[in-house]
Amino acid sequence: VGESKRGGWKEALIALVWRNWITLFGASLTTVTFCTIVTFLLMGVAGIEQSPYVGILAFLILPGLFLVGLLLIPVGAYWGRRKRLRQSDSSRADEHLEIDFNSPRIRRMVVLVCALTVANLIVISTVSYKGAAYMETTEFCGQVCHVAMEPEYLAHMDSPHSQVACVKCHVGPGLPALMKAKLSGVRQVVGVATDHIERPIPAPVATMRAAEETCGECHDSGHDIGNPLRIKAEYSADETNTHLMTVLLMRVGGGDNPKGAHGWHLQPGREVYYFSSDEKREEIPYVRVMDSDGTETEYWADGIDPDSLDLSSVPMRRMDCIDCHNRPTHAFQMPESAVNEAISVGKIDPAIPYIKLATLEALQATDGEDADSDLIADQIRSFYQDEYAEIWSDHQQGIEHAITQTQSIYKRNVFPAMKVTWGTYPDHSGHTEFTGCFRCHDDAHISKKETAISQDCMVCHDVLAWQEEDPEILQQFAPL
Ligand code: HEC
Ligand code: HEC
Ligand code: HEC
Ligand code: HEC
Ligand code: HEC
Repeated sequence: VGESKRGGWKEALIALVWRNWITLFGASLTTVTFCTIVTFLLMGVAGIEQSPYVGILAFLILPGLFLVGLLLIPVGAYWGRRKRLRQSDSSRADEHLEIDFNSPRIRRMVVLVCALTVANLIVISTVSYKGAAYMETTEFCGQVCHVAMEPEYLAHMDSPHSQVACVKCHVGPGLPALMKAKLSGVRQVVGVATDHIERPIPAPVATMRAAEETCGECHDSGHDIGNPLRIKAEYSADETNTHLMTVLLMRVGGGDNPKGAHGWHLQPGREVYYFSSDEKREEIPYVRVMDSDGTETEYWADGIDPDSLDLSSVPMRRMDCIDCHNRPTHAFQMPESAVNEAISVGKIDPAIPYIKLATLEALQATDGEDADSDLIADQIRSFYQDEYAEIWSDHQQGIEHAITQTQSIYKRNVFPAMKVTWGTYPDHSGHTEFTGCFRCHDDAHISKKETAISQDCMVCHDVLAWQEEDPEILQQFAPL
């Protein structure tokens, strides 16, 4: 009995798929992909480490093939039936439609179809759930398009937002945003695969959502940040790498405190609009402030004739968090501040004479070519060997270590494959390395009432010490 029963199931299965080559191919494709997907899922459950490419395969490509295979089964059955109908005389056609439940073979076929459908539904729903979750991971966004996203991915890992997933800022909550992001994501994956992407990837990001909906998920803009103290270390390019300090008392405010950057700019009901004449938003010819009491103030940059600008036809942007904090996570350094930071955290030893000068010059000589890393090493070595042989022999080990650190600085900020080099992505959150706040705050954006957008140092911060060796203001603190 056992023999014949098993034989019966096999027969039913064969009758189900062995209709024609289309159905057979579909069934094989489905079976193979099904088993592979289940293996990957089990590996995931078992906690076996997988590369991000396995994710693409398991959650995007295989499920696609699985569905194609599944569709081919009925398509093949339909096609086979049409073919048989054409071959036989039409009076017998209806026979094929009869499902005779008295026939054990038909009963088994129906049970098989139901069982397979349930198994398929389970796999499809697990995979689509897992696939959607997978596409939201930082690994997917940052590593799958490895070369294309490398600059942003590395910067992100090295930032205060390293624990914030890419989609939190780039997609934000809500289904429409998710759909839109998925579509543009597909376009980007295709772009990377076919090598049709812009290098460097342009910023600002045209599709970025209003910041309240993304940054606002975590940051409360109505919160008084007060006056944080900022101490910045610098090193002179002299023999002793003289340590200098700048101390700023920032005026940020916010909430009930109307003084400072947040206090003024994030005031409820106040809206600042501006028009920029270049793609990177570095030139700002026109600014409009609308206050909650209905007053409107317009500012034109020096040299701009108000009549020459047709305001109704230019794209106007409403200023939000990202117009100041445009690099909250993809922050790229300039050579000078990168070297200062490396020395201040002990990666480069300031006891080596001229080390600031040597490393800075080596970085400044690079221009985004693949060979730059070797040039950095050559240049620093010959700097010492040619001019300061004694320092070289005393500090050879420390200099070699500094070379490695300088090369890391380079690799963290310059990406020849993406044409990203020093200053490709300006940071608007200050005004020393890029124009930043001074795009507007230059005392030369003038309103009709002859008021200007202020460049008064004190409205934004109190500069308590500026490049001093031993700032008086810090003497009250324990030595830093
Ligand atoms: C904390 C928020 C935040 C997170 C998290 C974040 N980004 Fe961004 N991203 C931004 C902002 C802001 C910009 C610049 C927007 C602008 O200037 O219009 C940007 C710009 C970009 C750009 C355009 C090129 C550039 O450098 O300006 C790419 C590509 C990018 N992000 C990819 C990623 C990837 C990949 C991840 C995850 C590894 C990620 N982002 C995570 C906020 C974020
Ligand atoms: C998912 C939550 C989350 C989102 C979304 C988010 N942030 Fe943050 N952000 C944080 C956390 C947490 C910190 C504090 C990190 C720390 O101090 O280590 C932070 C820190 C910051 C800082 C201080 C950085 C510093 O150098 O200390 C700024 C500025 C900032 N975020 C701006 C933004 C902007 C602009 C956006 C939107 C583009 C944004 N954040 C989106 C969670 C978030
Ligand atoms: C007009 C420019 C400007 C705008 C607009 C702006 N900020 Fe800031 N923000 C600043 C400045 C300046 C600081 C102080 C930086 C410092 O301490 O060096 C700051 C500080 C911060 C900090 C760090 C606070 C800390 O304790 O270190 C966070 C977080 C932050 N902003 C989030 C936001 C968010 C979210 C928005 C949008 C709702 C926003 N900012 C809009 C200029 C701005
Ligand atoms: C798009 C133009 C624009 C940019 C960019 C901009 N601001 Fe402003 N800001 C204004 C305008 C307009 C005012 C109101 C006029 C004034 O008071 O000077 C203002 C006022 C302020 C005030 C209040 C001044 C006062 O008199 O109390 C502070 C503080 C401030 N901004 C900080 C910043 C900081 C910090 C940055 C850069 C991180 C920045 N702003 C970038 C347009 C801008
Ligand atoms: C519109 C606001 C604003 C005005 C006006 C302004 N600053 Fe700043 N300044 C900033 C911000 C924002 C930073 C960045 C703070 C940070 O990086 O934490 C900064 C940073 C600095 C730094 C430190 C640079 C560094 O990183 O070592 C110095 C020095 C400085 N400002 C001097 C001045 C002087 C001098 C004036 C007057 C001519 C002035 N600022 C006017 C907003 C302003």
